[in-house]
Amino acid sequence: MTEGSSIRPDESRRERRHVVIAPMRTSDLSAVLRIEEAAFDEAWSRRLFEEELAQRTSRAYRTAWLGTELVAYGGIMAVDDEAHLNNIAVAATEQGTGLGTVLLCDLVRTSLARGLAHLTLEVEVGNEPALALYRRFGLAPVGVRPDYYGPGRNGLIMWVRDIDTGDYAERLSAIEASVSDRFDVERRL
Ligand SMILES: CC(C)(COP(=O)(O)OP(=O)(O)OC[C@H]1O[C@@H](n2cnc3c(N)ncnc32)[C@H](O)[C@@H]1OP(=O)(O)O)[C@@H](O)C(=O)NCCC(=O)NCCS
Repeated sequence: MTEGSSIRPDESRRERRHVVIAPMRTSDLSAVLRIEEAAFDEAWSRRLFEEELAQRTSRAYRTAWLGTELVAYGGIMAVDDEAHLNNIAVAATEQGTGLGTVLLCDLVRTSLARGLAHLTLEVEVGNEPALALYRRFGLAPVGVRPDYYGPGRNGLIMWVRDIDTGDYAERLSAIEASVSDRFDVERRL
């Protein structure tokens, strides 16, 4: 008997959750701000999100939905051929379930569709869930911004280059496959 064979296929299918990833709209901002304010000490304001959403060519903000509930969001800014991850957050009740992974897969695919070739971000030193997520996507630290998040709270600058290659496509597919038993992902463009 192989490991896991006691789980009948119909049972494992029932546990899979349908998640819709869609562009962020202004009408999503109340739900986005609730997650943002719970996740970050220095939360973005509604006005800042509105200004970001207005910059349609250089930004892509995405939301993740379980049914009618907005449970995660994130966004990138295009600079030349680089995608800068501006933010990513999952509702506290859903953290650690794989949604951050699903959303970052979508943000990488969104970046590729925009012709971007590299991905970079800043993360606070010690933010282990975020670091674990980013390492999985091949992001590696290249430098530190002292006090970036306030006194004594340093920022780590991370990069992964050449996300537009066959090697990276394989990595991305493997990451998507690792959450496919938990989530059935529908991407809306
Ligand atoms: C960072 C964040 C987006 C990750 O999303 P998530 O849905 O919780 O992450 P996932 O469930 O997809 O897990 C991704 C990785 O983090 C790990 N992880 C999740 N929760 C963790 C925790 N509490 N402690 C340590 N690792 C954790 C998972 O094990 C997984 O690592 P693995 O791939 O090596 O197994 C989410 O935790 C969050 O919103 N945090 C608050 C906001 C934030 O810090 N955003 C990042 C700013 S740079």
